[in-house]
Amino acid sequence: MNHFKENNFSELLNKTLLSSSMEDTEKLGANFSSCLDDGSIVYIYGDIGVGKSVFARGAIQSLPGGKNLIVRSPTFLYLFEYPTTPTVIHLDLYRLKEKTNLLDFGLDEWIKNEHVLFIEWPQHITENTINPDFIVEIEALNEYKREIKIFRN
Ligand SMILES: Nc1ncnc2c1ncn2[C@@H]1O[C@H](COP(=O)(O)OP(=O)(O)OP(=O)(O)O)[C@@H](O)[C@H]1O
Ligand SMILES: [Mg+2]
Repeated sequence: MNHFKENNFSELLNKTLLSSSMEDTEKLGANFSSCLDDGSIVYIYGDIGVGKSVFARGAIQSLPGGKNLIVRSPTFLYLFEYPTTPTVIHLDLYRLKEKTNLLDFGLDEWIKNEHVLFIEWPQHITENTINPDFIVEIEALNEYKREIKIFRN
């Protein structure tokens, strides 16, 4: 299934998007979700508390089947799976002190089943075999303002 819509592509990608609130960031995530395809892999970069999980929540909740899902930050449990279409795996690798081989978590299965992956702290991945389809970078300008950049890889 292809969730991609041409006009969101040009509106969202390769530019500096500004967010002034958590709600803005959620909305950007929601708009971004229409760029997702089965099996899309999304790396989300940014400092602690910058809004990576908020962005992912906006995207997950606006996928088919996501509207009423509670989307929490996977900081302590490393990953949550959501029964959206396509299925989403949301990972946060920050607390894994050792570099992380995602094959130990079930990467093969996720890829085989064309799940969408949102990965926070992708710096902690060891494999060089994973290629993200999208890279999201979030930077805080002050307590509420964020710069968000989305690139198609
Ligand atoms: N413009 C904004 N966009 C997103 N979050 C914002 C914004 N302004 C303030 N916030 C607040 O920043 C926090 C972002 O939390 P979030 O869990 O998404 O961070 P994170 O980047 O996932 O951090 P971590 O690396 O710890 O997982 C929330 O408490 C949110 O309310
Ligand atoms: Mg997070």
